[in-house]
Amino acid sequence: MSEFVSVVRGVGGYLPERVLSNDDLAKMVDTTDEWIAARTGIRKRHIAADGEFTSDLGTIAAKRALEAAGLTPNDIDLIVVATATPDHTFPATATIIQQKLGMTHGAGFDLQAVCSGFVFAIATADNFLVRGQFERALVIGAETFSRILDWSDRSTCVLFGDGAGAVVLERQEKKKAGDRGVKGIHLRTDGRYKDLLFVDGGPSTTQTVGKLRMVGNQVFKHAVGKISESVLASVKQAGLEIKDIDWFVPHQANQRILSAVAERLGLEEHKVVSTVAEHGNTSAASVPLALAAATDDGRVKPGDLVLIEAIGGGLAWGSALIRV
Ligand code: ACO
Repeated sequence: MSEFVSVVRGVGGYLPERVLSNDDLAKMVDTTDEWIAARTGIRKRHIAADGEFTSDLGTIAAKRALEAAGLTPNDIDLIVVATATPDHTFPATATIIQQKLGMTHGAGFDLQAVCSGFVFAIATADNFLVRGQFERALVIGAETFSRILDWSDRSTCVLFGDGAGAVVLERQEKKKAGDRGVKGIHLRTDGRYKDLLFVDGGPSTTQTVGKLRMVGNQVFKHAVGKISESVLASVKQAGLEIKDIDWFVPHQANQRILSAVAERLGLEEHKVVSTVAEHGNTSAASVPLALAAATDDGRVKPGDLVLIEAIGGGLAWGSALIRV
């Protein structure tokens, strides 16, 4: 057993300035505000400006998380960026963010688990920290999904948006951390379902970036069961119970999925943090964006037990339990 635990020091989020409402979308494809709101809970999404890249969004979120932590880039020695929409095929967006933060030390890399990326990134950083290899990590989820959407496909283009969120995770000795820290993690993928949600391009296949394709109702069917099982696994691993959870901070894909998972797990609705109305599905950015919103407005307080979860392309899914 490690003598260390990873503790959340600060959280930050960033949404690009430009807003695209459901009514705006209704002028572009055959849809309505009523359909989108009733089926998904989404009211609007934010779209990155021309020349504004995933690394720019991630850098702002990272700076806000550092500010919340009372730290500077000098205090960080690891950057893990979860993204499915990197600035370039390579180098890693993490190294671009490292440069934009003015960091000339430490290490950074990207991690690809689509919408579940942030949960996988927390798990990855946690493992590096508790092993004692790094001291403080910036764990970032940053996406510009607007750039891989087929804007003529009403079944997908209404769902997604751009944004970034970040968390500073710090290695602490268990006796200093008390009960705080990452408590339980559960990760899963199953490539048999890779064709339910994918991008139809890539460097090795088409030499193009490609567009997002999704069999939405099939993904929906898998989401509720798989997320619920994952949550039960991470809660069990932590030696805790569902009733111990103070805040449920899920991947913000669809309000109906959020509510169905909460109901299945017996989580009271007022414990569910929902920001999906404000920004739609921002993939790997959605969990840290929701966590930042609930931290900034004072709902999530130090010592609270927070459950994060997500499912997305792969299929890949997972959950983590963190006492913040
Ligand atoms: N406006 C109006 N009608 C629409 C729209 C739209 N924007 N999109 C689809 N429809 C129509 C369909 O054409 C269909 O019409 P039909 O009955 O005449 O054929 C009807 O609405 C119902 O379509 P469904 O796909 O069955 O609708 P559903 O209730 O499943 O809602 C949705 C669709 C919102 C996509 C839902 O399935 C969903 O949220 N799925 C999960 C997506 C998700 O969680 N992804 C997470 C991972 S994302 C990632 O990893 C990148």
